[in-house]
Amino acid sequence: PNSTAPPARTVLLAEPRGFCAGVRRAISIVEQALEQYGPPVYVRKQIVHNHHVVADLQSRGAVFVESEDEVPEGALCVFSAHGVSPAVRENAARRGLDVIDATCPLVAKVHQEARRYARDGRTLLLVGHNDHEEVEGTYGEAPDRTLVVETVEDALGLALATDTPTALLTQTTLSLDDTQEITAALRGRFQNLAVPATSDICYASENRQQAVKSIADRADLVLVVGSTNSSNSVRMVEVAEAAGARARLVPDVDHLENAWFDGVATVGVSAGASAPEELIDALLSLLAERGFTSIEVERAAVETLEFALPARLAGSRDPD
Ligand code: F3S
Repeated sequence: PNSTAPPARTVLLAEPRGFCAGVRRAISIVEQALEQYGPPVYVRKQIVHNHHVVADLQSRGAVFVESEDEVPEGALCVFSAHGVSPAVRENAARRGLDVIDATCPLVAKVHQEARRYARDGRTLLLVGHNDHEEVEGTYGEAPDRTLVVETVEDALGLALATDTPTALLTQTTLSLDDTQEITAALRGRFQNLAVPATSDICYASENRQQAVKSIADRADLVLVVGSTNSSNSVRMVEVAEAAGARARLVPDVDHLENAWFDGVATVGVSAGASAPEELIDALLSLLAERGFTSIEVERAAVETLEFALPARLAGSRDPD
């Protein structure tokens, strides 16, 4: 048989990729709640923005709802990693729900800043995407004094006097580079702009963007595993494209298109913060079938951060 082996094609595997500390904590919260209290465990919104994670938890007894109004009175309800507005908390309390909060601590930090700046009488300029759940929650801390800024044009068009006391907040999963441009525009316009001591863009978004940039330099094609509603995953695709690579978001690894691989000798692989490692493994197997058998890891940072579970669940965790 004609068995001339094709030349080995290379996978550049970005690190860090996939689950961040906030996502790991949120998923563990639902798992531990199921174990400790038994199904059903209601979860308000997708616990993290990945449809595989949601389907898996659903099969184990989690019930996902869009609103706390759909949860039976008095039942257990987990709030998702993206956080909720005070109005949602109040509504849940009114309905007697037993709430376990899986809000990422780094999102909670932005909420705290929002409350503090609002108390100081500042107008909050919240850089982020209007339709994203995290922005909905943060906005809800001070709806009367918050303006959402999505673009540089938004920043330049704000109908506010330049000496208005303002404060800068951002969604945690934005592109660092795009946000810098918007921030520069806001700094240029407002003389009295308070800025948090540490960036609101979280370490996981930053590290994943850095890593994707370094593979984008050397890859003909970059694949980012993540769901279409995952903000940080979509930003990673944009970062790869901005760095000059062809890039695709891969929500389901069994939907690879042949045309993507035309003339591609090196493919970069990464995954958003809500994408499980099993999906990346499955993608690597499919790539191996296409001849991408040599794997090189490109490490941009080492992550060690872990967040503790809420006290009522922490005790039941298996040691691992
Ligand atoms: Fe939290 Fe950032 Fe992950 S805000 S959930 S650590 S992507």
